[in-house]
Amino acid sequence: MSEDFRHEPVLAREVVELLRPGPGLVFLDGTLGGGGHTELFLEAGAQVIGMDKDPRALAAASARLARYGEAFRAVRGDFRDAKGVLAALKLDGVDGALVDLGVSSPQLDDASRGFSFREGGPLDMRMGPEGQTLADLLARLDERELGRILDEYGEERFARPIARAIKRAVEAGEPLDTARLAELVAGAIPRKAWPPRIHPATRTFQALRIAVNDELGALAAWLDALPAITRPGARAGAISFHSLEDRAVKERFRALCQACICPPGMPVCGCGAAATFKAVTRKAVTASEQEVARNPRARSARLRVVERLR
Ligand SMILES: C[S@@+](CC[C@H](N)C(=O)[O-])C[C@H]1O[C@@H](n2cnc3c(N)ncnc32)[C@H](O)[C@@H]1O
Repeated sequence: MSEDFRHEPVLAREVVELLRPGPGLVFLDGTLGGGGHTELFLEAGAQVIGMDKDPRALAAASARLARYGEAFRAVRGDFRDAKGVLAALKLDGVDGALVDLGVSSPQLDDASRGFSFREGGPLDMRMGPEGQTLADLLARLDERELGRILDEYGEERFARPIARAIKRAVEAGEPLDTARLAELVAGAIPRKAWPPRIHPATRTFQALRIAVNDELGALAAWLDALPAITRPGARAGAISFHSLEDRAVKERFRALCQACICPPGMPVCGCGAAATFKAVTRKAVTASEQEVARNPRARSARLRVVERLR
């Protein structure tokens, strides 16, 4: 099973250089997936707690990383609850934290998970067994709300006609799988406006996946928890694949690195506040041409890192 569940870690060299795992340090990998980044941290001598919502990812990564013994602990859970997970393990914080957002290649490739528009699968799209499925979401949202999600999370120009086509099929009780859903989406976009290199349903599927899993909510909670889950000197990194995610990371990291909170225009600082983090990356780190050639998924990856000061 573990060999089937392989996911090439993106920005591997950059993650290790910037997060600096090493002996005596404890790392929290919030998105264990196939265990690629965790393995790099373990190889560098760190202990790692690897979290994932997906029991299959946990089982495969645990089997693959068993040789590291007690240095690796797998925990099923949502990284939005990182603080509670560390408290349950009686840890006051970690020296390194990473989230590598989105879904893994094995999740995308397994039609039964409902992420694929090429092969028919159930309207699911959940990363783990809990929570609402895509079928639940499509039944609950009205056409306007669905259109807003496709516009906002998918930057889909044809959000409204796509939402109309989907809701019409759902309300007519048409039996839908992911392949039929993709057909409906493609049919709602004028052929001459189909994107050149990607399937016309790509943006819609991405938007629906983000909504089903409340991916932006989980990221916001992890960013808010950083002061509580890191020790002084710790480094925290986030790899995002979507402009909304990257913007959330950039803004929250900037706020964490800001010292003075006086209103602009004050002649002297009156708040006396000192920053708790400093930026390690001034701008997002992206994949080299060689990496993108080897692993096209890396094309849109953006890594940002901060360091806890005190
Ligand atoms: C891109 S993959 C990570 C790949 C991993 N870094 C590697 O090198 O193999 C993302 C993983 O994070 C998990 N995931 C996404 N959001 C999560 C969340 N909020 N909490 C826990 N796991 C999450 C997914 O189930 C998936 O396995």
